[in-house]
Amino acid sequence: MKTTINPLTRRPAWKALTAHYKAVKALHLRDLFAADPKRGERFTAEEAGLFLDYSKNRITGETVKLLLQLAKESGLRERINAMFRGDRINITENRAVLHVALRAPKDACITVDGKNVVPEVHAVLEKMAGFCRRVRGGKWKGHTGKPIRNVVNIGIGGSDLGPVMAYEALRHYSDRALTFRFVSNVDGIDFVEATRDLDPAETLFIVSSKTFTTLETMTNAESARKWLLQGLGGDARAVARHFVAVSTSTERVAAFGIDTANMFGFWDWVGGRYSMDSAIGLSTLLAIGPERFRALLGGFHRMDEHFRTAPFERNLPVLMALLAIWYNDFFGAQTVAVLPYEQYLKRFPAYLQQLTMESNGKRVTLDGAVVNYDTSPIYWGEPGTNGQHSFYQLIHQGTRLIPCDFIAFGRALTPLGRHHDILMANVFAQAEALAFGKTAAEVKAEGVPDWLVPHQVFEGNRPSNTILAPQLTPETLGALIALYEHSVFTQGAIWNIGPFDQWGVQLGKVLAQRIVPELESRTPPPLKHDSSTNNLIRRYRAMR
Ligand code: F6P
Repeated sequence: MKTTINPLTRRPAWKALTAHYKAVKALHLRDLFAADPKRGERFTAEEAGLFLDYSKNRITGETVKLLLQLAKESGLRERINAMFRGDRINITENRAVLHVALRAPKDACITVDGKNVVPEVHAVLEKMAGFCRRVRGGKWKGHTGKPIRNVVNIGIGGSDLGPVMAYEALRHYSDRALTFRFVSNVDGIDFVEATRDLDPAETLFIVSSKTFTTLETMTNAESARKWLLQGLGGDARAVARHFVAVSTSTERVAAFGIDTANMFGFWDWVGGRYSMDSAIGLSTLLAIGPERFRALLGGFHRMDEHFRTAPFERNLPVLMALLAIWYNDFFGAQTVAVLPYEQYLKRFPAYLQQLTMESNGKRVTLDGAVVNYDTSPIYWGEPGTNGQHSFYQLIHQGTRLIPCDFIAFGRALTPLGRHHDILMANVFAQAEALAFGKTAAEVKAEGVPDWLVPHQVFEGNRPSNTILAPQLTPETLGALIALYEHSVFTQGAIWNIGPFDQWGVQLGKVLAQRIVPELESRTPPPLKHDSSTNNLIRRYRAMR
């Protein structure tokens, strides 16, 4: 497919930004703030309960103007419309991309090939809600008649990271009578540790896999079946009471032996890393209940509507994306740190790693041409304040520019003494220290000896966004996730790459499948790899 967009570096706004960068790169945030006393109020935007302060970025009004122009020249508006319209924008897999339909209200109409998909989405949600009521109400019984007390989600990538993140994020709202575990790694330890203290008679496995072919998930699901049958005396009928599946493939679910009446479906127009609000979120729904799950979807939808309709100059995902591009492509920053000051969001950076890097870690445009600019930065992070006592040293005084996203909340879910004020003081202090630093004169004025001064100087001018919301609720979480989803989409649109395929994970999968029999073979297999791989395989075989 040929796109009609000018190559990125030939767009007028890109050229203007290249010249503009040279003029503003030396400007210091100290001076920018001193010159404009209202800057901290001016460079802000708010939607769906999220307040974004982007004033501590190395930008002027002109920068924003040019970046918005770039979005326009990149055809962003048309791309957004194409996604919401259900066009097959995932061109390499010839698929529509409609995670926004997963959170559309019942009366919405979103069509794929002329068919409104919203009724199907709501039918699955109803089925999930009904199942949840039976499990939580004790009506769904295990094989021996005991109610379910443990839920184990088996999945990997998008079939794990979203569910784990959401469970941790919304734990405060979860049914504490149920225990939730998540098994993803093919390293058997993951399964062993997750199940060692569980009673099979009270345990429900959710096998979550869009394709139902993923090696890790299928291997873990087989081990789960063995574990269950061993624990329950070997009666194969137990599987039906202890396994449910979430997948797009009815045939493969049936072939595995799970009753398809206990399957929750979704569709090929939902990408794995965009699926936590589909049936892949079954564990989330079991944990927080159907009403709160709907509130989560409501938060997603509010941000979707904002992204679809708001002018770019106050469109949160667009602004966040443009700032990411500003640092990535003009300042040459290689990473973005995401730093939630909220312990419940401890898995949010891990979740974002897949969302951002599996989406935009691409080196060719939609037309197949190799790009001559950088695409996705590396996203990483840890919750504050822990990170402060670990890697913040590098962010403050290292040689690399690391734009940061701070995420914080006005109220703690379970207030404890002074903790929340101290936590919040830290997040504000970090953004302030990064932006304004401490000059040599200020250090000297404190009586620091000359030789020590350079070590204590903070050059500042290190950019950050702060996202502030009143409280971590299901709705806020939905809005926050959708904010990043659409920021990723916007970045991909400007780079003219396809954020919805992931060919880069294929080669390793194929090679691993080839190597497995070489490791398991009783007799030394003929090895035809490179000398390093051959040697490692031989050594491994000798060790096992
Ligand atoms: O690692 C590649 C990938 O296809 C991800 O995109 C996906 O989220 C994950 O594997 C799991 O896939 P599935 O849900 O089909 O098991």
